[in-house]
Amino acid sequence: MISSGRQVRARVAVLISGRGSNMLALARAMQAQDYPADLVAVLSDRAEADGLKSATDRGIPAQALPRASFASKAAHEAAMIEALQRVAPDIICLAGYMRVLSPAMLAAFQGRIINIHPSLLPAFPGLDTHARALASGTRVHGASVHFVTEGVDEGPVIAQVAVPVMPDDDPDRLAARVLTGEHRLYPLALAMLARGEVRLDKGKARFSRSDNSIRSQMLLIA
Ligand code: GRF
Repeated sequence: MISSGRQVRARVAVLISGRGSNMLALARAMQAQDYPADLVAVLSDRAEADGLKSATDRGIPAQALPRASFASKAAHEAAMIEALQRVAPDIICLAGYMRVLSPAMLAAFQGRIINIHPSLLPAFPGLDTHARALASGTRVHGASVHFVTEGVDEGPVIAQVAVPVMPDDDPDRLAARVLTGEHRLYPLALAMLARGEVRLDKGKARFSRSDNSIRSQMLLIA
């Protein structure tokens, strides 16, 4: 952890594969003096990820470790783990990182990896969540920040944001509404973890009794 004045700020690394808008939302939140975390590194598995340039333009250390440069998934992950260990993050945020993490990566950062997923988990794990939400007829959709565990999109939920599904929505319109919610949700959820208001304990999310942590689990966007 970094100590700035009286406040201890968690060191955060963000893993991306593409656009990086959630990474930027986290970076913006971290500019606040009272935010409990600092962004120390952005890593991508794709050299062409737009988020890498956005990070570099803002002076955030960013590095690509393309999967194609490594002989195997294991070799790629070993390099990722090494790069992460060099920056010694307290917390790793997956933000549009399109790879399933191996048990080795999970073990190296036990209980300290979180992900944002564009649905109200446990509904719609996996891909194409917005089209599937529309096809299901649900009137409420949203996003979840959860601890990363071995099952894809199965880890315990830390916080969620809900948005309405409008009658004239198509997947893109719905995705844009959810994304606005994601950009509010992820900084709140990360702050909860950085402040110790939630932790992973025997496969479950354990919350402290702070009013703030309870409130931020109920973020609803009209
Ligand atoms: C977001 O919708 C996130 O929930 C999902 O992938 C997308 C990444 O978008 N995991 P961005 O790269 O953060 O803009």
